[in-house]
Amino acid sequence: AACGGGSTDTGSSDDGGDLIRVGFSQLGAESGWRTANTESVKASLSEENGFDLTFVDAQQKQENQIKALRDFIAQDVDVIAFSPVIETGWDEVLQEIKDSGIPVVLVDRTVDTTVEDPFVTWIGADFKQEGTTAGEWVAENAPDAKIFELQGTLGSGAQVDREEGFGEVVGDQIIGKASGNFTRAEGKTAVEAALQAYPEMTMIFTHNDDMGLGAIEAIEAAGKVPGEDIQIVSIDGVRDGLQALVDKKFNYVVECNPVFGDQLAELITQVADGADVPKETIVIDAAFDQTITQADVDARLY
Ligand code: AHR
Repeated sequence: AACGGGSTDTGSSDDGGDLIRVGFSQLGAESGWRTANTESVKASLSEENGFDLTFVDAQQKQENQIKALRDFIAQDVDVIAFSPVIETGWDEVLQEIKDSGIPVVLVDRTVDTTVEDPFVTWIGADFKQEGTTAGEWVAENAPDAKIFELQGTLGSGAQVDREEGFGEVVGDQIIGKASGNFTRAEGKTAVEAALQAYPEMTMIFTHNDDMGLGAIEAIEAAGKVPGEDIQIVSIDGVRDGLQALVDKKFNYVVECNPVFGDQLAELITQVADGADVPKETIVIDAAFDQTITQADVDARLY
C-alpha cells in the first residue's frame, strides 16, 4: 500500500502475465457520482477483462495523487490513468511520466499544464455544456430567480467549466457564490452561511447532487421549503439526486454520467497496443425535470 498517499487496492495476486498493467489514481470518494465512477472503473478494469489494476484513492489531495503517479512510474506500469482533483500543479510529475515513456489516459477531469502532449487521450463529460444546459433551464423557467451558486472544488475542471457555462447564460442573476468542495457536509455548511448572507436568495445552482442534498438539510433547518422557497438546480443525476427531484425538493438535474468504465477499458487497451485513439471521448449526458417518476429513480443504476 502507498504510505500516507491514500488507500491502494492491487487488483491481482498473480505476476501480471499478459495482463495490461494499469495504475489508476482516483481523486477521492467525495460524492455518490465518484463512488459510482470508481465501481464502474474497477468492474471494467478487472483481471477477467485482461487488466492488472493498481487503484489508489487520493482522498481529494493533490499531493496524494502526485505520490501515486510517481509510484506508478517506479512500478513501470503499462498505462497510467488519473482523474486530476484540480487543473493546475501537474507540470513536474507529468514531465516525469513523459520522460518515463508511459502513456497517460486522463479520466473525467482535465489538466492545465505547460507540458506538451501530456496525455494520449481524455474521456469525460462536457462540463461547460452541463452548466449551459442548467442555465438555459433557469432562463426559461425562473428568469427572476436570485441565485446562489454552490461551487465544486475550486480550481477543478468540473467547477471552472460548469461555472463558465452557467454564467454565460444567467450570470446576471447570480447574487453570491461559495464552494462546498463537492461534498454533502461542506455543501450544507456553505448554504447555512449563504442563507444568512443572502436572505433574498430564491435559487441554488449546485455543481453536484451531494452538495445540493446538503443544501436541502440547511434550507429545511432554516424553516424554508426546498424546491419552493428556494429552488435547486443540480448536476449529476445520482439516485439520491433524482429522488430529491421526485420529492420536489430539487427542480432540475443535468446528468453527468459516471458509468464509462467499459469505454475507458477499450481506450486503455488501444493505448497499450499503441493504436491510434481519438484525443477526446465525450460521455453523453441527459437532463431531468420534475416529470421524472419514482419508477425511473428505482431503475437508476447508481
Ligand atoms: O468531476 C465530476 C464531478 O466530481 C461530479 O459532478 C461530482 O459529483 C464529483 O465529485
